[in-house]
Amino acid sequence: MTDLRSIIKSRASELQGQGSQNNATGSSSASSSLSATSPAAKEANEKRPGLGLSLRPAQNKVQMEHHDLKMRIHERLVDSIDVSVLMKLSQDSELEGAVRETIRVLVDEERLPLSAVERDTLTEEVLYETLGLGPLEPLLSDASINDILVNGSQSVWIDQDGKLVETPIRFKDDKHLLHIISRIVARIGRRIDEASPIVDARLPDGSRVNAIIPPLALDGPVLSIRRFRPVPFNVDDLIEKGALSQEMAEFLKKAVQARLNILISGGTSAGKTTLLNVMSSHISEAERIVTIEDTAELRLQQRHVIRLESRPANLEGEGAVRQRELVKNALRMRPDRIIVGEVRGAEALDMLQAMNTGHEGSLTTVHANTARDALARIETLVLLSGVDLSQRSIREQIGAAFDLVVQVKRLSDGKRRVVSISEITGVQEGVIAMQDLYEFKATLKEGGELTGRHQACGIRPAKSQRFQEMGVELPTELFQNVEASQA
Ligand SMILES: Nc1ncnc2c1ncn2[C@@H]1O[C@H](COP(=O)(O)OP(=O)(O)O)[C@@H](O)[C@H]1O
Ligand SMILES: [Mg+2]
Repeated sequence: MTDLRSIIKSRASELQGQGSQNNATGSSSASSSLSATSPAAKEANEKRPGLGLSLRPAQNKVQMEHHDLKMRIHERLVDSIDVSVLMKLSQDSELEGAVRETIRVLVDEERLPLSAVERDTLTEEVLYETLGLGPLEPLLSDASINDILVNGSQSVWIDQDGKLVETPIRFKDDKHLLHIISRIVARIGRRIDEASPIVDARLPDGSRVNAIIPPLALDGPVLSIRRFRPVPFNVDDLIEKGALSQEMAEFLKKAVQARLNILISGGTSAGKTTLLNVMSSHISEAERIVTIEDTAELRLQQRHVIRLESRPANLEGEGAVRQRELVKNALRMRPDRIIVGEVRGAEALDMLQAMNTGHEGSLTTVHANTARDALARIETLVLLSGVDLSQRSIREQIGAAFDLVVQVKRLSDGKRRVVSISEITGVQEGVIAMQDLYEFKATLKEGGELTGRHQACGIRPAKSQRFQEMGVELPTELFQNVEASQA
């Protein structure tokens, strides 16, 4: 590593046409990656005069020329240093300084009539091209953006407050986009090309990326980024956002404390992981928690947490470690709680068996649109494990294992809400019996605007005894149906 650094530095000073030591060092603020854009860059962005690129499509002549210039300098930079090695080191601000200096020299060499500000802007943009995410950078400094979705070079969408909005951002062409994608995945030691055209990974800053490229993606490379929230939502945030009522939050907290097995169900991006994270925060500090995820997203605050992450197969198709193996292994680690980020496969069976053999208080999520579907989905996943059990006994196991199903949903107004909390009360004749304890009652106002409220259904949980046994009180008020009591 030191070698590389000195290579880059010597190259930078060489380009400066003198042997003077690195005045490059320390000249930069922290690199961008997926966190906020560096202050210097932001400033340059705001000042940029007539060179506007970022939020406007590069369609007019000046912009195209600017883009070409930027790419030319970028290419020359790539020629002069080994960018793929550089990527892995780009956290290092010293290194960024050296690159910045090299760019500056290259910009100077272009001998263009640029003002100092324009020159700085150009330097920052080339730096983004090299170390950052190119045209996507302006989106990354905007904390209100949840998801960034790139569908080929000419179509970039964002999820802002639960709604999808198209941005005017464009990449030059698919090659440009592919280049940026390759760089993102190279940073985390992965590769993307025709031979392995899918990458799903977590970036060092916690953001999740998925990239899928041709030939699997038919209309150009597709990149989906789920932004990392520097401060995760807590239960008060969710109540304030109207995701659930105070009573529901209180009940879920007690359910976690009473070690109920809870399944959170919802569609893509409905808020499952967020709710799982919030609910996990109610687990006591005294417990040993093992989390198992395909891409680690949970952020538990307890001190005694062991985080496990599955591993995809390598290029030769070997070395995969699936969630199932991790669940099996977790059981040998004397866990008090096992949290599986999302059940997607055969691990469903091992979880069920664990829950039915004394590992209570498990929390997990599953992809389904209703509480009922969630149970059916678990059933399907158990069948995938190849176990030789009748449908009836699988259902019996599911009914015995889970206590609650919490359904989350993103409704038409873009808001993510808990739409029901259902209790599993038993299995009769191969049918799992459930009752709703809470629900979200939606009403459409005139003009199609959505309102509604969360309410208790007026039923005390059949499993109240379990709470008592665990020393958790369940005040009757939590379950009172306000409407009914007013009538
Ligand atoms: N109640 C909420 N209000 C606003 N945003 C939310 C809420 N719950 C989750 N989010 C945001 O929505 C996105 C998707 O949430 P996530 O929990 O990852 O969904 P899922 O696990 O269902 O795919 C994240 O960016 C998250 O920060
Ligand atoms: Mg999730």
